[in-house]
Amino acid sequence: MDWGNLGFGYIKTDWNVRSTWRDGAWSPLEMTDSEYLTLHMASTCLHYGQEAFEGLKAFRGADGKVRIFRLEENARRMIRTAEYTMMAPPTMELFREACVEAVKRNEKYIPPYGTGASLYIRPLLIGTGAQVGVKPAKEYMFVVFVTPVGPYYKEGFRPISVMVDRHHDRSAPLGTGFVKVGGNYAASLLSGAEAARANYPSVLYLDACEKKYIDECGAANFFAIRDGVYITPRSTSILPSITNMSIRQLATDFGLKVEDREVEFAEIPTFEEAGACGTAAVISPIGKIYDPDNEKTYILGDGVTPGPWCVKLYDALRAIQYGEAPDPRNWNTII
Ligand SMILES: Cc1ncc(COP(=O)(O)O)c(C=O)c1O
Repeated sequence: MDWGNLGFGYIKTDWNVRSTWRDGAWSPLEMTDSEYLTLHMASTCLHYGQEAFEGLKAFRGADGKVRIFRLEENARRMIRTAEYTMMAPPTMELFREACVEAVKRNEKYIPPYGTGASLYIRPLLIGTGAQVGVKPAKEYMFVVFVTPVGPYYKEGFRPISVMVDRHHDRSAPLGTGFVKVGGNYAASLLSGAEAARANYPSVLYLDACEKKYIDECGAANFFAIRDGVYITPRSTSILPSITNMSIRQLATDFGLKVEDREVEFAEIPTFEEAGACGTAAVISPIGKIYDPDNEKTYILGDGVTPGPWCVKLYDALRAIQYGEAPDPRNWNTII
């Protein structure tokens, strides 16, 4: 494995783990080496979008130990998603056991310390029971697979350019944006492709009602720094990022004030730094925001160098994930 040059894609590993929910109970975990699922053609995941997923990572640390970052928070979010979409939620214990087992069984795929790579963990929950009317399924499957990944953006830790999209919404204010269902991502593919065609690796979404406030940035939350304040949008249509939750805590520890509030698009020229944060990339500093409707480009900082707060917060979070710094709030599950 060329650990230093891994992208963010699927690489087959040896095992995945599964449990099925039938007659009101989850089955004991099963290990399998098959990458395939056999599904009924009327499964609700195929027709009515009963599908939830999560994304978290395991890191091989400086001390050789393996750490899964914020497993409980990802479990809670999957449970929230399951409840909102009327699926059987995995228990905290099932989620934990499945992630730990999937990582342990694929130990040889956990990238070595120092490569910048990690093992991505993908829990998946789907309605497998057959329905033809629009109703929740009576059977569900919970699957956890893992795949080794490198950095999300090929630019690495360098500022990215993002493009505003006022012509598509990935979610509605009272819709599913706050949970992690596949439909939100299907709704974002076209705008993602349009931005990529214009050479922008990510899309900046604005609120669906007025297009006045910043929502989020592709598959990552948006944040900005101004006058010693960490500012991040509060919106019902964005996914509450666990990376953002962690960075907000670190920002407070560093003495920044944290504002979690509606953030107007018009504030952009006042920001000293901006970034996108999420499990995949941790932090991607934003160097340039292009607004095609008004043919305007906003440059943050010098546009090419990560700002000092982005660097500081990124380094602090990575240090906890790789066991280089203490983990006073027990964010890591050591396995
Ligand atoms: C739409 C969206 N927003 C934000 C995030 C970042 O969330 P997290 O930090 O929990 O990975 C993700 C990734 O999971 C996402 O898909």
